[in-house]
Amino acid sequence: MKLFSSVNDVTDLNQMVQLALEQKKSPYAHQELGKNKTIGLVFLNPSLRTRMSTQKAALNLGMNVMVLNMDKEGWALELQDGVVMNGTTVEHIREAAAVLGQYCDIIGIRSFPGLKDRDEDYSEMVFNKFVKFCGVPVVSLESATRHPLQSLADLVTIEELKTRPRPKVVLTWAPHVKALPQAVPNSFAEWMCKADVDFVITHPKGLELNTAFTQGATITHNQDEALQDADFVYVKNWSAYEPYGQVVEVSEDWLLTNDRLKITNDAKVMHCLPVRRDLELSSEILDGPSSVVVHEAGNRVWAAQAVLKTMLESL
Ligand code: CP
Repeated sequence: MKLFSSVNDVTDLNQMVQLALEQKKSPYAHQELGKNKTIGLVFLNPSLRTRMSTQKAALNLGMNVMVLNMDKEGWALELQDGVVMNGTTVEHIREAAAVLGQYCDIIGIRSFPGLKDRDEDYSEMVFNKFVKFCGVPVVSLESATRHPLQSLADLVTIEELKTRPRPKVVLTWAPHVKALPQAVPNSFAEWMCKADVDFVITHPKGLELNTAFTQGATITHNQDEALQDADFVYVKNWSAYEPYGQVVEVSEDWLLTNDRLKITNDAKVMHCLPVRRDLELSSEILDGPSSVVVHEAGNRVWAAQAVLKTMLESL
């Protein structure tokens, strides 16, 4: 595997989930694989889970790890070609990515969308330029439109905790005060549409995701209808795809509570974190027995380790 940017980069989904679970059982079984290999984790945006879990995964595999907070510690990057760099940008992404490729065997990159220009964000300009110019395998640490390491960890969590062979999984929109990217719900939808689950998406009108990510999902604007008999409820806010990046005013109450969970099949509640308590998800759920958010975050290590192991084997 030379690239991990979406579910389409995984040949066999079930095999990848099983590989992650094997890593969880025997975290240090492949320490020789990463010996004298270096991963560079490049962050253009903040992170807690992705940063620490990917570092931990790489260390478990015996790799050296370097982290660059490029937004704060690197030179200001120029992304466009054909510009005279007489403004605030100091280094072009062509040289920056190519130089990082000299120091690293694998590169991880996080690059959020600007949420201003939909075409630019959905073209994955920054991520794709890194892939093009660095010359080494690349793993997405969350790009403008997808968060595949999160989605793999989510699928691993569902596989571990499901109580019937084909569980019902619901992705529900949740309130927020800020415009958030569509990367997590896009990615979750894309993975769930390929997994062996009954997948339902529920959101208020006006918050439709890009249909390229939701093929095969049942979509409803009625949250109660969606929650009926659900085994897993994945809570996430996202901003509008159309008009792009806008916070849509929603008059109904979409905050998930214990009362609303009563119609589910004793559903486990998931969230990628970070979560704003009592805005996006209620404290009573987060502090109660239904929440699996910490377990889910723990699985980020094994998802990353499965991907890095597969990449190391192809070097
Ligand atoms: N879920 C997730 O990606 O968390 P971080 O943004 O903290 O990495």
